[in-house]
Amino acid sequence: KVYKDYFFDEPAYDYHDGGYVKLQVPDVPENKLNIPEPLKPDKETDTDMYYTVVAQTGETQIMPGAKTKTWGYNTSLLGKTIILKRGKHIHITLKNKLPELTTFHWHGLEVQGDIDGGCHSPIYPGESKTINFICNQPAAFLWLHAHPCPSTAEQVWHGLATGVVVTDQHKASLPIPKQYGVDDIPLVLQDRKFHQNNQWDYQADYDPDGVQGPTPMINGTVNPYFDVTTQKVRFRLLDGANRREWRLHFSDDLEFTQIAGDGSLLPHPVKFTHMLITCAERAEIIVDFGKYKPGDVVTLFSDDTPIVKFRIHSFKPDHSKLPYDLIDLKKDEPETTKDTPVHKVVMSGMDEQVEMNGKKFNMQRIDSKQKLGNAEIWDVSNSNDKVGGMIHPYHMHGVQFQVLSRNGHDPYPNEHGLKDTVSVNPGEHVRLKVWYTQPGIFMYHCHIIEHEDGGMMAQIKVDSPKHPYNHYKLMDMDTL
Ligand code: C2O
Ligand code: CU
Ligand code: CU
Repeated sequence: KVYKDYFFDEPAYDYHDGGYVKLQVPDVPENKLNIPEPLKPDKETDTDMYYTVVAQTGETQIMPGAKTKTWGYNTSLLGKTIILKRGKHIHITLKNKLPELTTFHWHGLEVQGDIDGGCHSPIYPGESKTINFICNQPAAFLWLHAHPCPSTAEQVWHGLATGVVVTDQHKASLPIPKQYGVDDIPLVLQDRKFHQNNQWDYQADYDPDGVQGPTPMINGTVNPYFDVTTQKVRFRLLDGANRREWRLHFSDDLEFTQIAGDGSLLPHPVKFTHMLITCAERAEIIVDFGKYKPGDVVTLFSDDTPIVKFRIHSFKPDHSKLPYDLIDLKKDEPETTKDTPVHKVVMSGMDEQVEMNGKKFNMQRIDSKQKLGNAEIWDVSNSNDKVGGMIHPYHMHGVQFQVLSRNGHDPYPNEHGLKDTVSVNPGEHVRLKVWYTQPGIFMYHCHIIEHEDGGMMAQIKVDSPKHPYNHYKLMDMDTL
C-alpha cells in the first residue's frame, strides 16, 4: 500500500492562519546543498567518546552579497552532526561563546534531567560544563538545540540547532544506504526572512503563533541542489522550523519509503507519495531514483514550492531489498495494566493565550510526577476549534514514547515507532504510552517554539524510591 495522504486535519493546516507566510524561492542561483560534516570526537576509545560542542556567533554566506549574522554549534550556522554510538560512555564539554546565556538541549535523548539541557541548566557566556552519560537507546536521528526559557525560539532562529545521530549495530546491519554525505543525508527544514543586507530580524518578524519566513532554508542552504550518485538515498528529515509544517512530495509523485520516525526504526517500512512533518518531528525516508537517467532533475516540494532539486548522475543499479520487519520494539517495553495512571494534558489557546492544562509555564512549579520505569498513559488533547484552530506538536523531554491511538483510532501508519513529538489535531485526544528510563525534571510542551516560550509548557518530576531525584534547583525565569 502506498499512502497518498497527509493524514492531519486540513482545516487546521498552517496555511489557514491569518499570519501565514507562503514559501517562495528567492531569485538567486542554485547552491550546492550544505551537508553538515560530522563533529570529530576529541578522543574515542572502545568504550568512551569525548566531544566538545561550542555555541558560537559567526557570519555565513547564505545569500549573494552580504553575509548573514548567524549562530551555530562548532560552525557559524546550525552545526556539525554529532554521532553517538549506542553502548558508549559519552563525555561532552559544552562551551558558551555567545553574548548571552544558553542551554544545550538534547531533543530525543534519554538522559537524566540535569543533562537534558532544559531551561534549568543555563550555561553563562564564557562558561563551560561537561556532561557524562551512557548512550543506550535505539539508533535514531535526534537533535540538539538551545532551550533557555523564554528565548528558545529566538536562539533557534539565530541558528542553534543541529542533528544528532545515534548509531547501533542492528540498524547498521540493515540493507539501507549508509554512507553519510553520499547516500545518507540529513535535511534540516527551516524557513527564514532575509531583511536588509541579508540579515535576520527576529523581533521584526515576531508572531506569537510562531515565526515564519518566506525563504526555505535547507541545512542552511537557500535554493539547494544535491548531486545524486547512488540509486537509493536515505534522507533524515527534521522539521527544524519554529512554526512551519512541511507538506512534502516529489515531482512525478515519486514514491518514498519511511523507515524511521523520531526515536527508532518503524516496525515495518511505510510507503508514501505525500508526507506532512510538523515542528521537531523527524522521518527517515529512502528514495529510489532508479527510474531516472543522468541529467534528470527530481524536485522535492512543500505544497507547491520547490525546496530541494536532485540532479541525477549515473549510478550503479541497486537491487537491495528492505526486510518487512525492521525492528521489534515491543520486547523492551513495560506493559500497562488497568491500574496504570493516566496523565491528562490539554493544549489550549492560540497567540498569547496559549496554555497547558489551563496554566502558563512556571519554572518553579512541578506539574506532574511519574515513577521511573513505569509505563503510564498520557492523554494529550488539543482544545482548539476544528476550524480556525491549529495543530500543536506535543513533545516530551528525556523520553521516547509509543502513540497508542488518535481519538480512539489507530495512529497514523508512520507512528508505530518510538516518538518524542506527536502532533495533535484540534479537538483530538492522542493517547501515549510513556515510560522514562532516566530520572529528572523534564519539560513537556508544544514544539511550535513560540508557543513553548509563550507558556504552553509544563514540567514533570520523574524518580522512584530507589532512584530519588532530589538534587535539583529550579531556576526562576527572572534570574535568567
Ligand atoms: Cu526540542 Cu523542549 O524541545
Ligand atoms: Cu526536547
Ligand atoms: Cu502550539
